[in-house]
Parts: sequence; structure tokens; C-alpha cells
Amino acid sequence: MPAQTIIAPPSTAALFLVFTIDETAPDAIDTVRDLFADFPGLNRTVSFRYPDADLYGVIGIGARLWPLITSAPIPEQLHEFREIRGAKHSAPSTPGDLILHLRAASVDMCWELARIVMDRLANVATVVDETHGFKFFDNRDLLGFVDGTENPENSDAEDAVHISAPSTSPYINGSYLIVQKYLHDMNAWKELNTEEQEKVIGRTKLDNVELDDATKPNNSHVAINDVDSDIYRLNMPFGSFKEQEFGTYFAGYSGDVSVTEEMLTNMFVGKPTGNYDRILDFSYPTTGTLFFIPSIELLDDFTEQLPKPTK
Ligand code: HEM
Repeated sequence: MPAQTIIAPPSTAALFLVFTIDETAPDAIDTVRDLFADFPGLNRTVSFRYPDADLYGVIGIGARLWPLITSAPIPEQLHEFREIRGAKHSAPSTPGDLILHLRAASVDMCWELARIVMDRLANVATVVDETHGFKFFDNRDLLGFVDGTENPENSDAEDAVHISAPSTSPYINGSYLIVQKYLHDMNAWKELNTEEQEKVIGRTKLDNVELDDATKPNNSHVAINDVDSDIYRLNMPFGSFKEQEFGTYFAGYSGDVSVTEEMLTNMFVGKPTGNYDRILDFSYPTTGTLFFIPSIELLDDFTEQLPKPTK
């Protein structure tokens, strides 16, 4: 599968790697620029050999890194993730210069592409977060609910995910990705009975049906996130028994990042203010980072379109 493919059915395995880059390390800028330019080829190196393994590799750039690697204008909506403070719950902003979001039908495919990238970045990058996600039964999160059902489909998905204007921009068909690593308070969650949990989410647990308007509380996760435009979510469960960590890695792609930001404001500040998303009483984000995802065409033409800064 070509690099930078975003729209695809939920995968069995996922690997999220967020890096900071040490721009003072020898050859750091050239190393990173070469990685972006070569990424479609590196993706093919692994994916071509096992086409049935559905490897989808996506690489993205954070706001701090952009001006260090190119003199081209920064994509209009690329900025540091903006921390959101609600009266009760907050979404932190955490560092991230480069992200790898890898999906496949088996863990080894993600691992192998990550290993090849890691070899390239060894002397210039620090891994600030590594999350191995897995498919949990019928695409459930670790709270036990099916996650992803209401993602847009077909042309609606394309419209939601890709930057579409201005048509002459080299950033067209790219995307913006917001990631947040959420941990769940499983003990508090288990204290709710199934009916109470369904009111937190806004859907039934066993058969995944949306609650009707009379039953669905206006602070349920689904009601809070019902806005006019779509984003495309590729969340994955992850966990560690040793660390007692059970979570959801939120990955939301959008051609217009203000849509994801509006959802986050609704969740944390409330819709209306004070009516925050009830899911946050059981889940809290430990990271929050925004990336620009170049189209594959832009990666293929990286050197030409994104010249190196002149010192
Ligand atoms: C702890 C983290 C999260 C969990 C466990 C979670 C889980 C879920 C679940 C189970 C659903 C219902 C089924 C469906 O996917 O349509 C859902 C819907 C949705 N979620 Fe989340 N989610 C999380 C975070 C977020 C965040 C941070 C956003 C946005 C910034 C978001 C946006 C949405 C949207 C747009 C929907 C569809 C609403 C609709 O039915 O129209 N979610 N989520």
C-alpha cells in the first residue's frame, strides 16, 4: 500500500512513534530531509514483499521542525498543539517533531518499517512516545465499546481528511493529524453498570446501536462530538499490565484541523461551556500533538517543493 494512505479499514496492529529531533546533531537536517524524501520508497521496501499484509505507513511533521528543514511557507494550520483547559479536565500539549503512524495486518510489518526508519534517525532523534496498538475483538476500545463506526466513508472520508484549498498549494491532498494518548481509569469505569456506561458513550455496548435522542444524554461522547463536519479517526487500544496502563491512542485526521479542535473544545470546555464530555471522567490525555501529513506527491517531490533553508 502506498505511503501516506489514510483511509483504510481498521487494522489489526498499529505502531505510533513520536520523535523530537536534535537539530544540532551532525547532519540532522539532511538526515531528516532524506527520510521524508525516501519514506515512500522505504514503505515499498517492506509492503511490496507482503501485499496481503496491508501495511500503511504515514509520516508527519510537527510545527517546530518545519522551519528547521525547509524555507517553504509553513502549512496554514500547522502550529503547536494548543493546550485546552476546561473547568475540570485539560488536554496537555506535548512535544513532537516527527510522527510515524504505521498500520498492518500483523505486528512484524509495522516493526520492520519502524526498524528501518530508526536506523536512519539513530543519531538525530529521540523517541518521546512509543505506543503499540492492537485490534481488540470487533474494534472495541478497552472500555468495551466499538470505536470507529461513525467514521465518514468513500468521498465523505476523502473530503474530511484531505486539505483541499487553495488548489495551487503544494500542501493539497495532505492532512492534519492530532494524536492524544488517553489512559482509562478502569476501576472507576467498572463501577458503572452497562446502562450507565452506555449513557457515557451514547451507544449500546453489546450491539453498538446509537441511543435515541430521548435516551442519549447531551454530555455523552457521541452527542458532544456531533458537529457539522467530519474527521477520520484511527484510534487504537493499547495497554500494559505491568504499568497498569489501559488506554486509547486517539488519532484524528482532518483536512481542516479546526474541526478536530472544535471537537476537543466541546469535549474539555463543554458544549455549552461546563457541559463537558462525560468520557473524560474516565479517560485523560497524557499527550497532545499536531502534525502536518504531506501527500505522497509532495514527499515524492520533496527536494524540489520544500527547499532547504539557507543559513
Ligand atoms: C478516550 C478516548 C476516546 C475514546 C475511548 C473514544 C471512543 C469513541 C466511541 C466508542 C465512539 C462511538 C462509535 C464511533 O466511533 O462512532 C466514538 C465516537 C466519536 N468520537 Fe471518540 N473516543 C475518544 C476520543 C475522541 C476524541 C479526542 C475525539 C475528537 C477530537 C473523538 C471524536 C469522536 C467522533 C467525531 C465520534 C462520532 C460521533 C458521531 O456519532 O457522530 N473521540 N468515540
